[in-house]
Amino acid sequence: MQGDPDSMYAIAIHGGAGAIPRHALSDAREKQYRAGLETALDAGYAVLERGGPSLDAVSAAVRVLEDDPLFNAGRGAALTRDGAAELDAAIMDGKQQRAGAVASVRHVKNPIELARRVMEKSRHVLLVGAGAEEFALEEGVVLVPNGYFRTPERQRQLESEQRGHPVSDLFPASQGTVGAVAVDQEGNLAAATSTGGMTNKRQGRVGDSPIIGAGTYAKNGVCAVSATGHGE
Ligand code: GLY
Repeated sequence: MQGDPDSMYAIAIHGGAGAIPRHALSDAREKQYRAGLETALDAGYAVLERGGPSLDAVSAAVRVLEDDPLFNAGRGAALTRDGAAELDAAIMDGKQQRAGAVASVRHVKNPIELARRVMEKSRHVLLVGAGAEEFALEEGVVLVPNGYFRTPERQRQLESEQRGHPVSDLFPASQGTVGAVAVDQEGNLAAATSTGGMTNKRQGRVGDSPIIGAGTYAKNGVCAVSATGHGE
């Protein structure tokens, strides 16, 4: 979390990477995770510092985490049981109580960007699958082959789960989510969440992240929330 006590703007992020047993996390690896989180935090904070809206701040932070293959969102997302990435994301504007979300998209490089387009450019709140990707195409949002999201580590985790060896004893399946909440210099709140969901999930499984009021919520004067964990 980063904030300025005088002007009252602040941002907090979470960067879920799947359930990583402590013994599997080397110092070098932990440094990489921390560096990724700091880059995301700095990207969001820079927006707030120059007087930008909290919506831009949470989008910027989540976008960095989606692009970082270490985190379970965008590139490096957890894989479905057929070895594909299926991504969910949501964003909410606490000032106007507007929200946008996408679920089960397989080709949208930055699902948080598409969620924002849903909020700002469509009459809808949640678009899924092929319909969401058709909208992405119309909006000129960057599309990539599904293989872009797949990393060797996520592939190994999937294979391990499928052999009956969960990545962690603590959780039923590797999971995690990335997200950000922020308040800007005008006092406006925003929340954003993005995820690949859980490893070895069925095609079409959607967790809490893109469900407004469950995984993502913001209302000025009340709260901004981005949830993580087992989203069932
Ligand atoms: N909390 C993220 C998910 O379960 O999809």
